[in-house]
Formats: sequence, C-alpha cells, structure tokens
Amino acid sequence: MIIATTPAEATAQVSAWKKEGLSVGLVPTMGYLHEGHLSLITRAVAENDRVVVSVFVNPTQFGPNEDFESYPRDFAADSALCESAGVHLVFHPQPEDMYFADASTTITAAGVSEQLCGKSRPIHFGGVCTVVNKLMNISQATRAYFGQKDAQQLAVIRRMVRDLNMNVEVVGCPIIREADGLAKSSRNTYLSAEERQAALCLSRAVREGQRLMEEGQRDASAILGAMRALIEAEPLARIDYVDMVTWDSIQPCERAEGPVLVAMAVYIGKTRLIDNFIFPKP
Ligand code: PAJ
Repeated sequence: MIIATTPAEATAQVSAWKKEGLSVGLVPTMGYLHEGHLSLITRAVAENDRVVVSVFVNPTQFGPNEDFESYPRDFAADSALCESAGVHLVFHPQPEDMYFADASTTITAAGVSEQLCGKSRPIHFGGVCTVVNKLMNISQATRAYFGQKDAQQLAVIRRMVRDLNMNVEVVGCPIIREADGLAKSSRNTYLSAEERQAALCLSRAVREGQRLMEEGQRDASAILGAMRALIEAEPLARIDYVDMVTWDSIQPCERAEGPVLVAMAVYIGKTRLIDNFIFPKP
C-alpha cells in the first residue's frame, strides 16, 4: 500500500493506473476510521481495480467555533485498517499541501446546501464541495463512495457532479450502526458513558419516524412531533433540528408526497450527532 502526502505524488501514481486502463474507486474520509468507513472501503475494493482512501481533516468545512482542532486523529490505526482492507493508496495530505495560500476558487451547491445542517453550519457544504472536487481530480476517480449517514452531503455531492458534468459515479452506501442502534461516527468518542446511553434517543426517533411512515402517516408535523417528543424526553439531549425535506433536492416539505429525507442533528452534551432515514428506503 502506498502512502502519498502530496497531490503530485497521488496523481502520479493514479495516472500510471489510468494509463493501464484500470478503474479507481475513491473513499474520502476525515480519518479515525470505523466500520461505517470500512463498509465504503470494502465496497470500493470489490467494485474497482484500484482504491484510494483519503484521510484529511478538512479545515474549510469547519466553522470557527467547531471541533477542527479537537477532531480525533490516529493515522497509524487508519493506515493499518486500510492496508488490511486491501486499499492501494492512502492520500494523507496536510492543509498546506491541499490549499494554496492565495486560492481563489471554491464550489457551492446552492439550494441543496441551505436546509438541515446548512442552516446551523453555513460554510460547511461549500468546504465539502470544494475539497471533494479536489480529491476527485487528484485521484481521477471512476467511482466515489459516500455514506447515507451524511445524507445531505451525499445529495450535495450528487448535485455538484451532475451540475458540473464531472466524470465520476457517486455511490451512496447505507448507514452502519452499533448493535444498540447508534449510528457509527468518529465523534462518538467524545461521549461519556452517560452521554453514550443518552445518544440512543436519535436512533429511537429514527425508528419511530420510520414506523409512523410505514403505517401510512405522511404529515411532516405529525411525524416530526413524535420524533421530537422522544428526543426531548432525554435530559442530556438538545435538538438542533428534526426536519423533513424532499429527497434528493433537499427542499422543505410538509407532506411526504414523493421520496423524503427525515434528518436530525442533536447535541448530546457538547457533542453534535446526526442521524436520518430516507422513505421509501433507496
Ligand atoms: P467522514 O465523517 O470521515 O466520513 C467519511 C465517509 O464515511 C462519509 O461519506 C460518511 O457518510 C461515511 N460514514 C461515516 N459514518 C458512517 C456510518 N455510520 N455508516 C455509513 N457511512 C458512514 O464525511 C466526511 O468525512 C467529510 O465531509 C468528507 C466527505 C471526507 C469531506 O471532507
């Protein structure tokens, strides 16, 4: 397995593969890899001749009061996991390798970026679009893999790729959960034992929302009201949002007429966690 730390090194290796006619799968990550990431990596390894995993905590997608500095990092463990999963190249740059000090160009996907997490994290998806575009260019990816855990991110990336005629197939992958339902996340390591228990209110709310929709409920306020009540019953939880939007255009909707995304962000203590479901299941 090759470890590349600069865009030039990564591109040189990938260019050699592309000359041989090999397909390249890209899995962009911020590291501290867990089974959620691993599910994307395993699928990429199965579907492509060569697989690139990027491990880069991207500063431009964090707001000024967010957790960029404290975001968990363990590159030795990440590269060992990649190696055992059959990854061919890990791209692990530093911010100064990725961004020119006088960079002028950024990408924003308007509309899809404005609801849900876009409301409380106004610069987030611009940072994500720009870095993912750069990673796709550096890796010359044939396919790129994203988790439904970050459903709005998946929709934003699909929109960017469509709008800019990018020659890459975006593959969405299901949410991987702990045995008790909590969606796997690098940020779960911030939780104390008590908070870890409290965090189950997110997946409980997801199951309640799914149950109501499977029983035929289509009214957003009825579904979201029941979900919010479950979260509000948890004293350590504070709701950022619980919302329903159209899938995959991420527009407000009051009734589920077509496919919808029901998504939430909830603070458990100081840790902001997200979870969601798409109905009907994609
Ligand atoms: P990160 O949070 O590290 O996630 C990398 C990828 O793993 C994302 O596509 C995310 O949706 C997926 N993932 C995380 N937890 C998952 C789970 N429990 N089940 C399934 N997939 C899961 O998302 C980012 O990094 C960044 O924004 C990035 C795209 C790398 C751009 O910087």
